[in-house]
Amino acid sequence: MEKTLVLIKPDAMKAHHIGDIFKIYEEKGLEVLAVKMLQMDEKLASQHYVEHIGRPYYDDLVGFMTSGPIIAMVLAGEDAIANVRKINGKTNPADADEGTIRKLYASSGSRNAVHASDSPESAAREISLYFSATEIFD
Ligand code: PPS
Repeated sequence: MEKTLVLIKPDAMKAHHIGDIFKIYEEKGLEVLAVKMLQMDEKLASQHYVEHIGRPYYDDLVGFMTSGPIIAMVLAGEDAIANVRKINGKTNPADADEGTIRKLYASSGSRNAVHASDSPESAAREISLYFSATEIFD
């Protein structure tokens, strides 16, 4: 069973899609191992998005991600990292397949409802930013 880190972003939180998003992951067979609601601050944003520091969109990304509460979760399943990114859809909802979370709930490539880890290395790093070992129920 592979693990991945998912964030429900402030836009989807404000639009009341928490339940919709959990339902999609559970219906696709993913196991929820950990859940936390929190407010991202600039320090956590800089740790989470360390690879994006210096990019032209970085300040907008941090401003958005710190604009309201988010939900962090650890999901598990076979090929969970690739599977969850497929369920989420492409970064920009205009490019996302029908039925994906971003097609359903995102309004742009920056206000795009969910984040998911993109590799085993980023999953391990990102999970450790939000959860201690005792908070993960595997
Ligand atoms: S990806 O999925 O990593 O390949 O996507 P990428 O296009 O590289 O974008 C990385 C994250 O940056 C966010 N993003 C933006 N935020 C604010 N403004 C602009 N213009 C913008 N462009 C990209 C995008 O939503 C990705 O966030 P995460 O949380 O990684 O999905």
